[in-house]
Amino acid sequence: MAPTGTRSRFVLLALFCIAMFSFLLLEGHREPPGFPSPIEQAKHSGSGGAQSGAVLTGHAIAPKLGNATAKAELGRAAWKVLHTTFARFPEKPTEEEKEALRSYVHLFQRLYPCGECAEHFGKVLAKYPPQVSSRSAAAMWGCMVHNIVNKRLHKPEFNCENIGDAYDCGCGDEEGKDKDKAGAPA
Ligand SMILES: Cc1cc2nc3c(=O)[nH]c(=O)nc-3n(C[C@H](O)[C@H](O)[C@H](O)COP(=O)(O)OP(=O)(O)OC[C@H]3O[C@@H](n4cnc5c(N)ncnc54)[C@H](O)[C@@H]3O)c2cc1C
Ligand SMILES: *[C@@H]1O[C@H](CO)[C@@H](O)[C@H](O)[C@H]1NC(C)=O
Repeated sequence: MAPTGTRSRFVLLALFCIAMFSFLLLEGHREPPGFPSPIEQAKHSGSGGAQSGAVLTGHAIAPKLGNATAKAELGRAAWKVLHTTFARFPEKPTEEEKEALRSYVHLFQRLYPCGECAEHFGKVLAKYPPQVSSRSAAAMWGCMVHNIVNKRLHKPEFNCENIGDAYDCGCGDEEGKDKDKAGAPA
């Protein structure tokens, strides 16, 4: 009587220990508790490699850029990169390409070398999240947020109807557009 009862109790205890051990092992592979979930838009992307919300929308990283001349030069170059990026984004992007552009814009903001500019622009992105559904949506969005910055700096508003022509860089390699001349270096 007693030996049988002891044995079954042992079996139960052993099973319980195995269950606890596997549970702890599995827990170890999870994200640490409190790891921030991806930002709202990233949830709808279906892309497993989406950056976490904290990485995309955390504090502006660079220090203040005091030199006004350097700040303006940097701004002109940065806007050119951004608008040209939108102008050459696919008209029909894949979900993964949309996610890439969204992450890029957010990290462009976070890491922008003028810290006080990055801080302001972060507020603009929070209110107007990047539009990544198509080239035209991205280009129009880029023009709109640039105009928000223009307004704050008391600069003239840009007419966004002309955005398609303004950043047609003639870069080539586009179907139906000016192709690079044969023999041109890659
Ligand atoms: C993300 C970001 C944030 C910034 N924040 C600040 C800030 O907080 N404080 C600060 O002093 N400076 C800031 N700047 C720099 C500022 O926006 C200007 O780049 C800088 O003052 C130089 O201005 P600019 O008059 O030469 O023309 P820019 O604004 O640099 O524009 C360059 C050219 O782009 C064209 N353009 C103008 N508006 C648009 C539009 N809406 N869409 C498309 N093309 C357009 C025009 O041809 C213009 O000449 C920021 C720049 C960036 C990229
Ligand atoms: C400000 O920046 C400009 C452009 O980069 C540079 O030529 C100039 O020397 C800088 N001024 C100072 C005081 O550092």
